[in-house]
Amino acid sequence: MAPQSFSLDPELVGYLSQMANNEQLQQKHLLLGEGLSGKVWEVEGYAIKVYKENYSEKDDFRMLQRLDGHAAFPKLFYADQHMMVTEKVDGVTLAQIRQSGEKLGMDIYQQMERNVEDCYRQGIIADDLHLNNLMLDRQNKVRIVDVGRFEVTSVPQYYRDQLIEDLDGLKYHAGLFSFSSKRKKHRRHRRHSSSSSRKRYYSSSSRRRHYSSSSDHHRRRRRRHRRSYSSS
Ligand SMILES: Nc1ncnc2c1ncn2[C@@H]1O[C@H](COP(=O)(O)OP(=O)(O)O)[C@@H](O)[C@H]1O
Ligand SMILES: [Mg+2]
Repeated sequence: MAPQSFSLDPELVGYLSQMANNEQLQQKHLLLGEGLSGKVWEVEGYAIKVYKENYSEKDDFRMLQRLDGHAAFPKLFYADQHMMVTEKVDGVTLAQIRQSGEKLGMDIYQQMERNVEDCYRQGIIADDLHLNNLMLDRQNKVRIVDVGRFEVTSVPQYYRDQLIEDLDGLKYHAGLFSFSSKRKKHRRHRRHSSSSSRKRYYSSSSRRRHYSSSSDHHRRRRRRHRRSYSSS
């Protein structure tokens, strides 16, 4: 990875690397949040994600680079094997809003839907969308802060049903929607019938950067999706 391809002041990078290595961040800086892969701190107006040492997937910056310019995603400033520096989103996670007892409006859901559609059109499947990975900024814009499990595919049409199902799940967790069992059954049937064609995919993550049958992939994704609502 070439550090010169990033736009962050090298002095700040040096400072942050030192802080991240010395675990001093917690003494001086605000913890913005924490997930499975690391902790995110506010330093000098940036969001610094410091990866957990034993966490192997540290390439979420590649997906952010791919999505650069889309307003829903934080701007990327720097990344290396220990940390990633992005624009700090000034706001709260949708999970925090729900925890406070507030209902999320339909307009928020519609924004999420539009963002996911934008990704889809670029051949990117927005996986692992859950309320802790989504924030609402001060301008009431939905921001997607975690793209670590987004996937690049050459066959986006194959993921259409899964995408709609993921969005339904999100709507449900946002408190906007109850599943219709009839609709789900119909989808399950459609997905099943298409899984006989052995299409291939590739993913943004190094762990998943191998070819695999799409039906296996769907099973994994569904399992992960269910888990994700209670994890990072
Ligand atoms: N750019 C950001 N601006 C503000 N807060 C952020 C930002 N990125 C992440 N966070 C906060 O940190 C938490 C964990 O970040 P996330 O990228 O989801 O980590 P993980 O990959 O470990 O799940 C998020 O749920 C959110 O609260
Ligand atoms: Mg997360």
